[in-house]
Amino acid sequence: MTYAAITGWGKCLPPATLTNDDLATFLETDDEWITSRTGMKERRISHVTVSELAYVACARALAAAGKTAEDVDLIVFGSTTFDELCPNAASNVQRLLGAKNAACMDVSTACTGGMYSLSVATSMIKSGVVKSALVIGAETISPIMDWENRDVAVLFGDGSAALYLEQSDEESGVITEALGCYGESRDILSVEGWGMKYANKGRVLGQTNWAFLGQEIFKKAVAGMAQACDKALAKAELSAEQITNVVPHQANLRIIDTLVKRLKMDKEKVFVNIHKYGNMSAATILVAFVEAIEESFIAKNSYVLLPAFGGGLTWSAHVVKWGNRNHALATTDVELPECDKSGLELVTDIINAKKSVIN
Ligand code: ACO
Repeated sequence: MTYAAITGWGKCLPPATLTNDDLATFLETDDEWITSRTGMKERRISHVTVSELAYVACARALAAAGKTAEDVDLIVFGSTTFDELCPNAASNVQRLLGAKNAACMDVSTACTGGMYSLSVATSMIKSGVVKSALVIGAETISPIMDWENRDVAVLFGDGSAALYLEQSDEESGVITEALGCYGESRDILSVEGWGMKYANKGRVLGQTNWAFLGQEIFKKAVAGMAQACDKALAKAELSAEQITNVVPHQANLRIIDTLVKRLKMDKEKVFVNIHKYGNMSAATILVAFVEAIEESFIAKNSYVLLPAFGGGLTWSAHVVKWGNRNHALATTDVELPECDKSGLELVTDIINAKKSVIN
């Protein structure tokens, strides 16, 4: 049987940090509320485009796998905040990397985007269409955030991660997955002003209103991820006890805790980094997975469960068989350009730029 082994991994977080105290300088909120309701302490704000973040993450993933850009057959880019809709973002990463042999596609499923992209790439490798792939989860949410709305502005951040996959005969990579969507509930998480439906309607690009029913999303998130985990585990013929680590989507620490209880899993098995980055939508779970690998939280030759949910409301869970290598084969000197602003300064620039366009 053919598998799609994960042999390279990399992440790229923009350096500028926006703390809960920074948010309290322009929103009616405070560190205590944000920490106790979400588990978040700070998030990153990008000074570059989402394609540039993704490019650096991919360069690191290729180095970790000991591969060159020309080895890549396919680039799948999961995001909700593509720089452009045409041409696609994956083609920009191809150009930046010099991955001239790669087919390129974008996948848009909101917070599950990195994981749906992993499914697409894995399936194309298993079916023999390609032999290798870069899978990206990357977002720059800050430019389209409604920074006046405390319900959502405190929850999100920017970031990126990438995995390198290659064909293998050994049981490795995604073993099973379950994907789904609560389409009837799609309106409880939508971003008005973000898409072609709003084109030529007198609206300024980037001027958004987030329709966001937090408590409803919370319930659906737990139900969707629990259902997906049950299905993926059943397909793999594994029990929850046989799972060594869980790397869940990081939208709210209370959602993670509720899910873990529902799955009757040990909290010690669960990787959490929400305090550092908030919710980076499609980038979230891949950044967490990469950090869990780098920190050797993922045990060698173990089974890892990765549950996710996002706008749509899409949901998923993947069972990954991890290999026996947690160290990168090489490193790269590819870096982001320097950033000379703080997170608060970058957000202030976005708020002022929007005001000047609207007025
Ligand atoms: N600071 C201070 N107070 C706030 C803030 C804030 N940032 N935001 C809301 N409040 C207030 C509300 O106005 C409300 O006040 P009221 O009681 O006077 O009306 C009070 O806090 C409680 O609000 P709730 O909505 O009841 O708070 P809750 O405990 O449900 O937590 C939260 C809200 C954190 C949004 C939670 O519901 C949640 O995490 N939901 C899911 C989040 C989510 O799904 N995120 C990402 C989606 S995935 C994607 O694809 C984009």
